[in-house]
Amino acid sequence: MSADRPQTDRSQDAAPAAERPIPLIDLVAQHREIAPAVLDAVQKIFAEQRFILGDEVAEFEHDVGSYCDSREAISCASGTDALLLALMALDIGRGDEVVTSPFTFFATGSSIARVGARPVFVDIDPVSFNIDPRAVEEKIGPRTRAIMPVHLFGQCAEMEPLCRIATRSGLSIVEDACQAIGAEYQGRRAGVLGSVGCFSFFPTKNLGGAGDGGLMTTDDLTLAKRLRRLRVHGDAGQYEHVEIGINSRLDALQAAVLRIKLKSLDQWTLGRQRNARRYAVLFQEYNLLDAIELPVVLPGRRHVYNQYCVRVLDGRRDQVLKSLREQKVGCAIYYPKPLHLQTCFADLGYKAGMLPHSERASAEVLALPIYAELSADDQEQVVRSIARALGRTPKRSLQSVLAGPNRRPGVPAPLVRYNTEE
Ligand SMILES: Cc1ncc(COP(=O)(O)O)c(C=O)c1O
Repeated sequence: MSADRPQTDRSQDAAPAAERPIPLIDLVAQHREIAPAVLDAVQKIFAEQRFILGDEVAEFEHDVGSYCDSREAISCASGTDALLLALMALDIGRGDEVVTSPFTFFATGSSIARVGARPVFVDIDPVSFNIDPRAVEEKIGPRTRAIMPVHLFGQCAEMEPLCRIATRSGLSIVEDACQAIGAEYQGRRAGVLGSVGCFSFFPTKNLGGAGDGGLMTTDDLTLAKRLRRLRVHGDAGQYEHVEIGINSRLDALQAAVLRIKLKSLDQWTLGRQRNARRYAVLFQEYNLLDAIELPVVLPGRRHVYNQYCVRVLDGRRDQVLKSLREQKVGCAIYYPKPLHLQTCFADLGYKAGMLPHSERASAEVLALPIYAELSADDQEQVVRSIARALGRTPKRSLQSVLAGPNRRPGVPAPLVRYNTEE
């Protein structure tokens, strides 16, 4: 339906009597489910007064290592530190280059610069928002030491060609899997697809702590030993500092909370995936697919939807964002400025227009609520609000109205333009 199509029949207008605010993320709803277990675990730690590393952290590392199918899992204080420690353990530093995506959270690029290396930003694939392996290939040079793909929004980057490039050129791969715990690429989990995988437990991640936290996964036992040492000031034991590391340890309180949450992670992921499917149906039924592009799940991927980011076409993203906020529907832009255009990276010499897919994504993306506890009614309210933001009469197609507000089994699903199935 076009924006200016006359709306003669208003009988299907789906404006309910009361619309309630819908947050972008609702951690309170999630906590309600696990509160007794979390409070018990916290009490136990206070009783023991062992707050840093220790058994609770070791148990969590074991559990999350199994979850990621990794031989080793080494926790640390944040996802940013995980990236930093991974680069340190690979001896990447001054004079080296690391090829990465500019369409990501700042820490991806800053960790490379922090160790003294040069981030080499290459453009993304506009369909997946992830680094384009062909663009990576073009930038491999004598100083390249590693590739740092980001599994953005919870979908793995195109790892097969990246691994081929890395093997051919003798490079390491540091996966920025901070948004992608449990995501899969061709049946294998994020975090074991390269040399080291880096995860964040920032509270809004799919596995989020009660504060900051991070973790590295690797199948390389020598690298794991080095990572364990680097996170405690390079201490090989008994205050014997064989190299200079950093202080980046996970708290027992965080580990305890995360261990409890890990048990529910797959169920929450299923909820996010169900919500993505529901959005696909709703955007179709509200005839919005000419204005909104939905996320695409590429073949062989398990998308875990840390974010559900649509594209708002025709330069109308900011208008939609403003209107959704006025209508009290949570939304956000991840990320409004690609890293190659950030002031702190100006000396790298990038200019606007050099990485057009990343720049266009920054101008078009909009993250919508996707958390597992989101109800079908809430989702319909989000879509209705977007219709209003676009100046349309929020109205489901006649076929879907006849099928009822929540599609029942047996009712054929409408055609969707993009596949959001796993
Ligand atoms: C892609 C990406 N990389 C790195 C990080 C850094 O993680 P943290 O916030 O735990 O330091 C994040 C977290 O927001 C992220 O989303």
